[in-house]
Amino acid sequence: MASTNLVFFSIFCSLSVALSAPDTIQENGSIRDGETIVSSEGKFEVGFFAPANSNRRYVGIWYKNISNGTVVWIANRDAPLNDTSGVLQIDGQGKLSLFSGEGQNQTVWTSNSSITAASSVVAQILDSGNLVLRPKDDTDPGSYLWQSFDYPGDTFLPGMKYGINLVTGLNRPLTSWRTPDDPSMGHYKNEMDPNGVPQFFLTRDSVIQFRSGPWNGLRFSGMPNLKPNPIYTFQFVFSSEEVYYTYNLTDSSVPTRMVLNTNGVLQRFTWIEHTQGWNLYLTAQMDNCDRYALCGPHGSCDINNSPACGCLKGFEPKYPQYWQMSDWSDGCVRKRPLSCQEGEGFLMYSGMKLPDTRQSWYNKTMNLEECQRVCLKNCNCTAFANMDISGEGSGCIHWFGDLIDLRDYTENGQDIYVRLAAAELDALSSSRGRKKARTIIIPVVTITFMLGLCVIMLILKKRKLIAGEEINIRTRRQEQIRAEENENNDLELPLFDFTTITTATKNFSLENKLGQGGFGPVYKGTLEDGQVIAVKRLSKSSRQGLDEFKNEVLCISKLQHRNLVKLLGCCIQEEERMLIYEYMPNKSLDSFIFDPTRKLILDWPRRAHIINGIARGLLYLHQDSRLRIIHRDLKASNILLDKKMNPKISDFGMARSFGGEESEGNTNRVVGTYGYMSPEYAIDGLFSVKSDVFSFGVLVLEIVSGKRNRKFSHPDHKLNLLGHAWRLLKDNKSDELIEASVRDSCNIPEVLRSIHVALLCVQQSPDDRPNMATVVLMLSSEIPLPLPKEPGFFSGRDLSDMESSSMKLDISAGNGITDTLIEGR
Ligand SMILES: *[C@@H]1O[C@H](CO)[C@@H](O)[C@H](O)[C@H]1NC(C)=O
Ligand SMILES: *[C@@H]1O[C@H](CO)[C@@H](O)[C@H](O)[C@H]1NC(C)=O
Ligand SMILES: *[C@@H]1O[C@H](CO)[C@@H](O)[C@H](O)[C@H]1NC(C)=O
Ligand SMILES: *[C@@H]1O[C@H](CO)[C@@H](O)[C@H](O)[C@H]1NC(C)=O
Ligand SMILES: *[C@@H]1O[C@H](CO)[C@@H](O)[C@H](O)[C@H]1NC(C)=O
Ligand SMILES: *[C@@H]1O[C@H](CO)[C@@H](O)[C@H](O)[C@H]1NC(C)=O
Ligand SMILES: *[C@@H]1O[C@H](CO)[C@@H](O)[C@H](O)[C@H]1NC(C)=O
Ligand SMILES: *[C@@H]1O[C@H](CO)[C@@H](O)[C@H](O)[C@H]1NC(C)=O
Ligand SMILES: *[C@@H]1O[C@H](CO)[C@@H](O)[C@H](O)[C@H]1NC(C)=O
Repeated sequence: MASTNLVFFSIFCSLSVALSAPDTIQENGSIRDGETIVSSEGKFEVGFFAPANSNRRYVGIWYKNISNGTVVWIANRDAPLNDTSGVLQIDGQGKLSLFSGEGQNQTVWTSNSSITAASSVVAQILDSGNLVLRPKDDTDPGSYLWQSFDYPGDTFLPGMKYGINLVTGLNRPLTSWRTPDDPSMGHYKNEMDPNGVPQFFLTRDSVIQFRSGPWNGLRFSGMPNLKPNPIYTFQFVFSSEEVYYTYNLTDSSVPTRMVLNTNGVLQRFTWIEHTQGWNLYLTAQMDNCDRYALCGPHGSCDINNSPACGCLKGFEPKYPQYWQMSDWSDGCVRKRPLSCQEGEGFLMYSGMKLPDTRQSWYNKTMNLEECQRVCLKNCNCTAFANMDISGEGSGCIHWFGDLIDLRDYTENGQDIYVRLAAAELDALSSSRGRKKARTIIIPVVTITFMLGLCVIMLILKKRKLIAGEEINIRTRRQEQIRAEENENNDLELPLFDFTTITTATKNFSLENKLGQGGFGPVYKGTLEDGQVIAVKRLSKSSRQGLDEFKNEVLCISKLQHRNLVKLLGCCIQEEERMLIYEYMPNKSLDSFIFDPTRKLILDWPRRAHIINGIARGLLYLHQDSRLRIIHRDLKASNILLDKKMNPKISDFGMARSFGGEESEGNTNRVVGTYGYMSPEYAIDGLFSVKSDVFSFGVLVLEIVSGKRNRKFSHPDHKLNLLGHAWRLLKDNKSDELIEASVRDSCNIPEVLRSIHVALLCVQQSPDDRPNMATVVLMLSSEIPLPLPKEPGFFSGRDLSDMESSSMKLDISAGNGITDTLIEGR
């Protein structure tokens, strides 16, 4: 197995030497050919040797007790000795030198210690296999004058820092032997490149062959087989002083080493005691797709495809004629060029090896939302990704220019977001239904921290983020206590029979399909007893474990309020997961208030009823339900209307059902919708009950004005609906905001009051906004209202920023029943 490095010594040195050998060459001391020094526990030995089939002699380090002496390091690899006259000596300047010749007057090799020690110097072989030069009385690693670990050959041993010292510029490449018999510098080199986000490059005569990809917190992006294992622990250190990869043995009796072999393959071996041989544990390069830039710029390699190369979505082969002939090196070009205009956005690819990061920029602390925002603002930024994908993901990488050397893994890849022109995104989103694309359009903000709702609830409970104590009415407290007492009573989970559902929905017929929600289609159904239901059939890709799903349903089913859509039960059949809701014949609020004819149905009393209903539903979620929930995606299309036009908040709690699936691919959840998202949520990802309050404020202004915040424009200024309403209020002209069709039916002071309350809800600072309890009180009483401060997302600039980045959100609008999300349809 390890024959390449197996060395047969010409010196089978006498046992007496081996047993009593010291581990140190003393001050002014030396060892001659035939003499060795051995590390204190007998693991490594330093001496002279000749490789198999060669009589050239080298000074090297090898395993003492195993493997017949696999050599791990060589001093004079490019200057072999022709005879046994060599002497390894600590010379007068405190360097380690190899002399040869009759009078030992020829210097063959010398250690590269730049620092000359003040005191006397000794050389010691450590049990790690590191040969160090240090002051005689100082064993601190920090005072080593020189160490062989800094000048590796083809072998990377445990404890070595494989990488670069940014202060001194010392890089520690691995270099292959020329042949198994000739340790001189071969063709291959594997070295860290600190440009951009650091990565290792394997080159043959300086031409890149393989790229490790950047470290992603778990492994190198291009080495999915590097996993936690029982043999060694590994670590990547990336500070302002140094960048390196290192590993330790978990069990020192199972040695392992990494070698760049003479064919340019990075291999890891482990020593198997009972076979007395080195076992190949893994290789860095796995297949053809690991050939650097095989598919050219904007190409992506997938070993499961034939041909393996493909273009990223929105790109096409630069030279189709060459591409067809399997010459992919010219890669792909955009179908529609970037213009840096509004509407550009990003397409997410999951399961990828990140492209070459030499031209990249990074920030270790930025979150993904910020990362996207900054990338979008810079026209040169072509893609972004999290730097660290451990945990919930952190850090930010931006790419500029071409994306090179991407590949698509079946597993253990990561997400990257590639910039595309607005028209391209539109084209892709309209055609996405047919293909099961592994891509997802990311509009503005991806909620990376989409924890399951239950988890969020736990956190919220702990942090007591839910405020609203000021107006805490006694009865409410009591209700709450009662609710919490009930909490322990195991709620019966209403389970529907699968055949009941298929019968009710006429076998999920197309005519019964109400729409396509975030996590699958929604069907209308009629039960045998005549009850009409809405069945949300979760797409298979968003399915979860049975227990999780049941938990979920239990969570949701405990939310009971007349202004929340009621979950009637669920249905579980093998792979199928379905949620059964009460059916809402009047669909969603947006189908009324923004529709030129249907809006006439909603006079002011009805609108007021809807506003109050939403407020109470939200108050229940925030404060009164035992779970305490932040909805996070309150908007007109999530307010459903029953027969009597009672509003029901929907899609609450849905997040959890589908959480943790983001990397899966074809459902993407964007919790939150621009136009409704509070600034702190949209920009910093901070959410609290006050972000729902903000959305509520927007919703009220939309209900009163009949205009969408996001599509609002005014001939006189560039303000959005919020800014416009605020300015009218300041000018005492709020009545201009009121929808014409409403004005006749309305009680003007009541409408003005709701506008005023809405503006209090959308204030920039979350602390200034009232909580829902206060909102309910304000809406239903005559208490004096404070003057609202400037709303969040007030200015025209913010608006255009938002608009430009949020174009894609419209895809989800108007699906009727359930639209928290933008999903890959
Ligand atoms: C080592 O050599 C230096 C210079 O040749 C000399 O000054 C020093 O005394 C020597 N040390 C020992 C311990 O022999
Ligand atoms: C050398 O290896 C043998 C078994 O391979 C073991 O019994 C012995 O203790 C080892 N000696 C040292 C000094 O590690
Ligand atoms: C190690 O060397 C001994 C003696 O030269 C030989 O008998 C044995 O086969 C070698 N073992 C391996 C694994 O090469
Ligand atoms: C060994 O021999 C080769 C050629 O015979 C010569 O080039 C080289 O310099 C010699 N090395 C030493 C250390 O004398
Ligand atoms: C080295 O010493 C030998 C004899 O001791 C002599 O012949 C030779 O010229 C010397 N070489 C150098 C480079 O000083
Ligand atoms: C020794 O250091 C010099 C400069 O400090 C460098 O040019 C040279 O390549 C180094 N040699 C080795 C073997 O590292
Ligand atoms: C390896 O061991 C050293 C010394 O105990 C420790 O400082 C280092 O963090 C360890 N590295 C890893 C990857 O476990
Ligand atoms: C990285 O981003 C954070 C948060 O946006 C910022 O505070 C910090 O200054 C940035 N660091 C660098 C080096 O740009
Ligand atoms: C974008 O790239 C161009 C050309 O390389 C450069 O002149 C310009 O300054 C860059 N813009 C930004 C915002 O980095």
